[in-house]
Amino acid sequence: MSLNITPVHPHFGGEIIDIDLRKPLEADELEAVCRAMDRYGVLVFRNQAMTDEEHVAASRQFGDLIETKTAGHPEGITVISNVDEHGQILTRDAPRYWQNLGARLWHTDGTFRTTSPTYSLLAAHVLPPSRGQTEFAFMPAAYDALDATTKALVEDMVVEHSLLYLWMRLGFGHFTAQQQRDHSPARHRLVLQNTFTERRSLYLSMHIGSIVGWTLPESRCFIDDLLAHATQTEFCYTHDWRPGDLVMWDNRQTMHRGRPYANAQDVRILHRTTIKGSAPTAAQRPAGAPVPWQVSGVLSRTNSFPGIDSPREEMTDHSARFCIAST
Ligand SMILES: [Fe+2]
Repeated sequence: MSLNITPVHPHFGGEIIDIDLRKPLEADELEAVCRAMDRYGVLVFRNQAMTDEEHVAASRQFGDLIETKTAGHPEGITVISNVDEHGQILTRDAPRYWQNLGARLWHTDGTFRTTSPTYSLLAAHVLPPSRGQTEFAFMPAAYDALDATTKALVEDMVVEHSLLYLWMRLGFGHFTAQQQRDHSPARHRLVLQNTFTERRSLYLSMHIGSIVGWTLPESRCFIDDLLAHATQTEFCYTHDWRPGDLVMWDNRQTMHRGRPYANAQDVRILHRTTIKGSAPTAAQRPAGAPVPWQVSGVLSRTNSFPGIDSPREEMTDHSARFCIAST
């Protein structure tokens, strides 16, 4: 069957108004939604105001859910909000106030897991008058726009993702040994290919801290260049939430980020489920191998770079083909 989909962007994203996710999908409807996800990367379902139980049931049609436990909600529901369990707006005293800032950075859900998720389904519950949009970037279009040299360079590239790398971008540091063990990086290929459309995409996120075989500084420069490329306006769609919206996206083809709103005054509550992936995208780091969280040493010598002494396997010299812009 074909779905009635209205594109929301020249490259990706579609709006669907004639499917009710609160009811079980017929087999052909489910197949059509999955193929539409392959093609569009983001689907906006209107008028879906639903209970958590309906949200979980709708999500399970697409696979097993990432297990999460939020008090007062069924397993599988993650509450994304700026209020505490008593409904009070979070202040800077609350760890979650700071954790929420991580969603403001461009990211892909769950890339810090060795088997990362496929879809996320995010439902609006309370929307702030000060907007709080969600912005998406379409990675197949970003990949297509790379030059041939860069496409060849990234084709078999493997990178390391961790929640700690994301928090480091926000300025947090001094993680405990336990936190470092708990958030040991997961490895993923940087280029994924959709099996239905056969389009390649960049599997990017600000969870990325390093490229396997590269130094940290060179990794960061390269990944930051890719992030800047992939989030150019032409590849981005900004979703203005309406009551009843449920937005579903393919984490293997998109990045996203939350946009600012008056979080000290307005309440914003959305509920999310995330669908488990089936297999890792790359071989994982050797068990017990030290993690190069950051470069040690100082920039005091000109002929060497002290501190790039973190144990790395297969370290290669990319200086000949990696250009650092001087302006
Ligand atoms: Fe997210």
